[in-house]
Amino acid sequence: MTYTSSTVRVPDVATVPQHIAIIMDGNGRWATQRRLPRVAGHARGVDAVRTTVEACARAGVEYLTLFAFSSENWRRPDDEVSFLMRLFVTALEREVGKLHANGIRLRVVGDLAMFDKRIQDLIARAEAKTARNTRLTLTIAANYGGRWDIMQATRKLVEQSVFAGQAADISEAAFAQHLAMAYAPEPDLFIRTGGEQRISNFLLWQLAYTEFYFTDIFWPDFDGAALEQALASYTGRERRFGRTSAQLEPQAQNVDPLPC
Ligand code: IPE
Ligand code: IPE
Ligand code: MG
Repeated sequence: MTYTSSTVRVPDVATVPQHIAIIMDGNGRWATQRRLPRVAGHARGVDAVRTTVEACARAGVEYLTLFAFSSENWRRPDDEVSFLMRLFVTALEREVGKLHANGIRLRVVGDLAMFDKRIQDLIARAEAKTARNTRLTLTIAANYGGRWDIMQATRKLVEQSVFAGQAADISEAAFAQHLAMAYAPEPDLFIRTGGEQRISNFLLWQLAYTEFYFTDIFWPDFDGAALEQALASYTGRERRFGRTSAQLEPQAQNVDPLPC
């Protein structure tokens, strides 16, 4: 699948979203409610990731993108950041074999140069190992920011166009090829757990026509039933991409134009 832009061409829409993007929020509050340290919520969040990946694969979702660490999450206390880094390493070490056995391709997007060499190596190995899997592409957004992505894509596009002397090729399609997730269609469904209703610098470019779904459930409690609710909400939406409702009705295409 190569990137197709919802503003250049109206995309095909299926009953099951082809791509779901999730902001996994509420780990800290989940733990605090239980009088546990915040990091206990992050640890439990890994179980919810496993459940959600399995449920999406079963539902026929082709791309699942999970926001694990934002470019602004470095602002958190040092001990929480270190815990999250260790958790990332453990999850990569423990889970990649299972993902591979289940036909799942793993990709990691974000400014990875900011991570330890060990994490970078684990990511490279996991991506290489699962590169030929086609059932579901699981993307983990780590040290990712929508603005970082737009800036890095802009830099690449400008370098390419300037060297080729092709300023005219600064088009939407040419730009989108340089985004970190150029390999995936735009998300059909965006889910944010934890009750907040904001994007927090996630996929700013790609969410142009994505359907939004917010739930108060904290991420560690998100499960198959919660995903079903989100999918049911998505199925009831009318995705118009700028057109009118009448234009979406199947018979509308067969109606003869009114005589003048
Ligand atoms: C999301 O949960 C996980 C990360 C951002 C790494 P939070 O840690 O933001 O949990 P809350 O929002 O403070 O409850
Ligand atoms: C967004 O959650 C980032 C991730 C889930 C990785 P935050 O908890 O960092 O977002 P804000 O700060 O509440 O907007
Ligand atoms: Mg949060």
